[in-house]
Amino acid sequence: MAALRALEDGREDRLFHDPYAERFVRAAGGDGYWDTAPAGWAAFAALMGEQVAVRTRYFDEELLRAVAEGCEQVVLLASGMDARAYRLDWPDRTRVFEVDLAEVLAFKAAVLRDAEPACQRVEVATDLRLDWPRALREAGFAPGAPTAWLIEGILYALTPEAAHALLDRVTSLSAPGSVAAFEHLPDNPALRTARTSISAEMANLWLGGPEGEPGLWWGRHGWTAQARDVREVAAAYGRPAPAAFDPARDGSGPGWVGTARLPKTG
Ligand SMILES: C[S@@+](CC[C@H](N)C(=O)[O-])C[C@H]1O[C@@H](n2cnc3c(N)ncnc32)[C@H](O)[C@@H]1O
Repeated sequence: MAALRALEDGREDRLFHDPYAERFVRAAGGDGYWDTAPAGWAAFAALMGEQVAVRTRYFDEELLRAVAEGCEQVVLLASGMDARAYRLDWPDRTRVFEVDLAEVLAFKAAVLRDAEPACQRVEVATDLRLDWPRALREAGFAPGAPTAWLIEGILYALTPEAAHALLDRVTSLSAPGSVAAFEHLPDNPALRTARTSISAEMANLWLGGPEGEPGLWWGRHGWTAQARDVREVAAAYGRPAPAAFDPARDGSGPGWVGTARLPKTG
């Protein structure tokens, strides 16, 4: 994901600015990374690059909107190399919790050791398969206050059951007025072929997440969601349909980004 963000950052018409993405890529793969990337990477980047650009811009906007609407705490679930805590213009007092595995957060901290967060950034080293709500509370998260959640780059890697369990936990931690930005990318033949040519691990990464239209499964958890076809969001930013989700291409499938809300009064 960092590599795809770095590619977008290098475009003149970029949809966001992420000066940290390239740093992660070089730290992980050395200066020659772009020349030695695994076979299949270029095909995967061609399929997913536009989708990552569009979703990054969309989530930047949605998170800042949620904070402006009153969410003073933000949780980036499976934050990975997401640098939003450093690169977005957060209002004072915003706390951004980054939840990921300890070794991932340690790598990120090492790469960004000389960077200043633009908010109160809190690392929550935990495993999403374990009692992460407790780890989040122990890190200072306030369940009584509205939260802006980001669920990016994770749902598709979960089984439908695991995805619903995650949404249950998110819901149980969410006060009235909370907002959750999410994406939903069912697997499709084009993506599967590209991933298979990178590695077996990548090929098996996609488990699908919750089935069906996202507004329905957020509704089952008590939220009101607006899910938007990623093609429509791309068009609003002046971009073509992201290749993996362009019905004009063989092997493509649907893809969504969206935002779910809990009413402000219980
Ligand atoms: C595809 S990356 C997405 C990262 C980030 N949200 C983004 O969009 O750039 C998936 C992330 O999930 C994290 N992850 C995977 N399994 C996890 C687990 N069991 N507990 C916590 N984080 C996990 C990985 O470390 C990785 O950072």
